Amino acid sequence: MKILITGAAGQLGKDLQKLFDKMGIEYIATDFVERYEKLDISNLKELREFVRKERPSVIINCAAYNAVDKAEQDWRNAYIINGLAVRNLAICANEVGAFLVHYSTNYVFDGEKGEPYTIYDTPNPISRYGESKYLGEKLLQAFGEEYALIRTSWVFGTGNTNFVYKIIQMAQKSDKLSLVTDEIASPTYTVDLAFATIRIVEERACGIYHVTNEGVCSRYELGKYVLEKIAWKGQLETAKQEDFNLPAKRPKHAKLDNFGLKESVGFEMPDWHDAVDRFFDELKR
Ligand SMILES: NC(=O)c1ccc[n+]([C@@H]2O[C@H](COP(=O)([O-])OP(=O)(O)OC[C@H]3O[C@@H](n4cnc5c(N)ncnc54)[C@H](OP(=O)(O)O)[C@@H]3O)[C@@H](O)[C@H]2O)c1
Repeated sequence: MKILITGAAGQLGKDLQKLFDKMGIEYIATDFVERYEKLDISNLKELREFVRKERPSVIINCAAYNAVDKAEQDWRNAYIINGLAVRNLAICANEVGAFLVHYSTNYVFDGEKGEPYTIYDTPNPISRYGESKYLGEKLLQAFGEEYALIRTSWVFGTGNTNFVYKIIQMAQKSDKLSLVTDEIASPTYTVDLAFATIRIVEERACGIYHVTNEGVCSRYELGKYVLEKIAWKGQLETAKQEDFNLPAKRPKHAKLDNFGLKESVGFEMPDWHDAVDRFFDELKR
């Protein structure tokens, strides 16, 4: 097995590399960033040349445009990286017979279902970011041959900026914080997501997956748990999304149901509290 990782400088890309190092799996790590081999997935010609030269048996696409609010104005770039570039990857993976893994988000759903979303449900994004990720899903399903489409939510790991890091940073600067109770989903630790990914790759188990840590919480509940872990002495208040008036709407209740993961590859994701505990253990190392 020879794996090409795109977007390897991101938080998931970094944890995949750590896992592959431990498992002795051969990989090529590429990204925009200098210290990685440069590969822009939005450039079909460059991508095609690279893939033809390296002939990976698996491509794992961790590259993404994740600036949810910025995408409201800058939607063309979001559509290119999260949408058209996924088609590029599908074309190139097909040409060398590689298994393609791509990640999407719970933000492809509108959050109005009233219960967790399964892999049967139909997306209906309410933001430009959600649209761009749904475009990537549609192009992958139209042009991909052997692929796994993995939807996840609230991704956090030690490798890049995320909600958990932001809470820690805000707590260092302020003794009063407010977090929303009306955005509900499941946090996902990159270490666990990387492990679920390799199980799917090992089985070459094509299909759509929902992969998040088990359990459900609001942004407020996740923040509260993180603040307790750092023994913050400030005052935490509840808020609603409308209090922040952010450019992009977020789905109110977009928990993903992991049905299909255990059934396909026998792996169950740990609970999110346990995942946050291990994240803090990792920070101490
Ligand atoms: N983060 C979340 O909360 C979340 C939630 C749901 C789903 N997901 C999905 O999970 C996957 C992994 O996310 P993540 O949080 O690990 O992402 P991340 O930390 O933002 O990393 C993405 C990486 O892709 C790079 N990149 C951007 N455009 C590129 C291009 N054209 N060619 C090559 N590399 C490019 C970025 O470089 P620059 O930094 O220089 O742009 C960055 O290093 C993504 O598909 C994401 O959409 C994430």
